[in-house]
Amino acid sequence: MDIQALNDIAVKMVTPGQGILAADESTGTIGKRFDSIKTESTFEKRRDWREMLFRTDTAMQNHISGVILYDETIRQEAKDGTSLVDLIKAKDAIPGIKVDMGAKPLAGRPGETITEGLDGLRDRLAEYYKLGARFAKWRAVIEISHPDQYVGMTPSDGAIKANNHALARYASLCQEAGIVPIVEPEVLMGGHHNVARCHEVTERVLNSLFTELYEQGVKLEGTILKPNMVVAGLRCSIQPSIEEVAERTIKVLKDTVPAAIPGIAFLSGGQSNEIATEHLNMMNKIGGFPWNLTYSYGRALQQSALFAWKGKEENYDAAQAAFNHRAKMNGLASLGEWTPEKDAASNA
Ligand code: 13P
Repeated sequence: MDIQALNDIAVKMVTPGQGILAADESTGTIGKRFDSIKTESTFEKRRDWREMLFRTDTAMQNHISGVILYDETIRQEAKDGTSLVDLIKAKDAIPGIKVDMGAKPLAGRPGETITEGLDGLRDRLAEYYKLGARFAKWRAVIEISHPDQYVGMTPSDGAIKANNHALARYASLCQEAGIVPIVEPEVLMGGHHNVARCHEVTERVLNSLFTELYEQGVKLEGTILKPNMVVAGLRCSIQPSIEEVAERTIKVLKDTVPAAIPGIAFLSGGQSNEIATEHLNMMNKIGGFPWNLTYSYGRALQQSALFAWKGKEENYDAAQAAFNHRAKMNGLASLGEWTPEKDAASNA
């Protein structure tokens, strides 16, 4: 393992002013996204959508350091026969690949999941490296049970440990293959829980994650963390301010994440586009931490472009304009330089 080479990639992934585009929706998930714009999810439509994103000049050249791809996409060609991987590289962005096989029910722990995909991973990573991937992603899913539930309250320590152990095994295999692992333990924001409960669970999860990474010999200098922010569940009646989310998220990261990690790239997890930008911006405005904090957004980078596109060729320019705008705003947020005025001016 060449740790310097891994560190060089990881540092580039979190270049100030830039972040990661998560375009690794599985066929099922992108199908749901396309349903929202009443577009059938075919091989060609998925190609058209992603090709349009990867050809968006300003966004890709200035604000996207890397793109997470799905197995289909890393093998796919643009309409003119150029590989999508080459389109990404031409914009000086790094191709990456989702390698987990999804969250499945965890035996013995009703209501909780374990992310699968370790079997055969060494061989798959070797193939992905040849296809151009220089970083990978694995997502563990942690769900917080309803606040009134005591028996069977989740997450259990067992589920946290099992998921983090798998993340560490994955990360170690990635580094052996010359690939930077993004480790993503996502505490879901769909529930009724309040922000304090999310804070407590996120702290437990991250503490356990770094113990597991250490035990599996994972080199932190060549690793990127992709966490959730500390937010309240979407169904909680009391929603925290932008400042509270930023302060709690910084606190939990400072309490649990070693300084050797080059960068932290957040998932958006169902936050609106604007709120995801504002939270990231506030954290970078507050500052005072050793890592670059940036974005690895899926929905919060793509949603407005998806609604502008609506699956139609004639909306290509409008979709690229929407993607450019969101990428620029998040680029500013990664520097703590976003303001509502700049947002309005860029959107004019
Ligand atoms: P969202 O930003 O839509 O949560 O997606 C990021 C991601 O890669 C989830 O695994």
